[in-house]
Amino acid sequence: MDSETLSHVAQIISESEYLIALTGAGISKESNVPTFRGEDGMWRNYNAMELATPSAFARNPELVWEWYSWRQGLIAECKPNRAHSTLAKWEERGILNYVITQNVDGLHRRAGSANVLEVHGDLWATKCTECSHHGRLDAPADGVPKCPECGSKLRPDVVWFGESLDRDVMMSVYAELERADVCLVIGTSALVQPAASFPLIVKQCGGKVLEFNVEETPLSRIVDVHLSGRAGETLPRIDSLL
Ligand code: OAD
Ligand code: ZN
Repeated sequence: MDSETLSHVAQIISESEYLIALTGAGISKESNVPTFRGEDGMWRNYNAMELATPSAFARNPELVWEWYSWRQGLIAECKPNRAHSTLAKWEERGILNYVITQNVDGLHRRAGSANVLEVHGDLWATKCTECSHHGRLDAPADGVPKCPECGSKLRPDVVWFGESLDRDVMMSVYAELERADVCLVIGTSALVQPAASFPLIVKQCGGKVLEFNVEETPLSRIVDVHLSGRAGETLPRIDSLL
């Protein structure tokens, strides 16, 4: 990452009128939250299709909850890193308008960001499989939690493979994508739809896309700038230039 690219990016950010960020598992990597793909990726050791689908839950809710409870335990030990805190600082200073995240780890909010759209849900949120009850756990689940209203099984309120994203959240996401003149794409492999296409919408609407990643992704060819490096290092370096 050369200093010329860094100042170029800093300039685009400081001149932007409506800045948003799309984040993925890579932004939490330096907080020790496992990513999904790549080296040490979570899906390498666990078959997603056996764990993160409605039919997996119907077949074996104990196993699915065991996996979520393990992830909750991991995340409870993790802290936001300098990438999360830089975005929170930029929001507070009026530089950044919204964060759209695919992460369910809650680290953006814990870092202080308030304008966050969690498109894949929240690891601590639950919903009833039978009634309309929604709730939150404050400690990792022990077994299969039951609905306080009707006694049926609760499930994690996250988006599973084969499920559509929450309609209200998506309406807000599309409004942000259309409004943004600059979108930072941080730590996502850009392989999972529909989030992978969000930066394309920004481009179609005339906005610029700046990618922050340790490697190239399918998006790298179409972005305005690809900034190679760890988000926990590149974002604070840009911050120091603003
Ligand atoms: P992935 O695990 O697919 O990709 C993580 C990306 O972060 C990769 O492109 C890495 O190169 C990059 N990366 C790793 N460390 C980094 C660092 N320190 N700084 C910057 N970049 C870094 O994660 P996502 O793209 O978020 O969905 O995965 C998308 C979705 O796939 C997840 O939300 C999840 C999964 O299926 C659901 O659970 C619905
Ligand atoms: Zn219920």
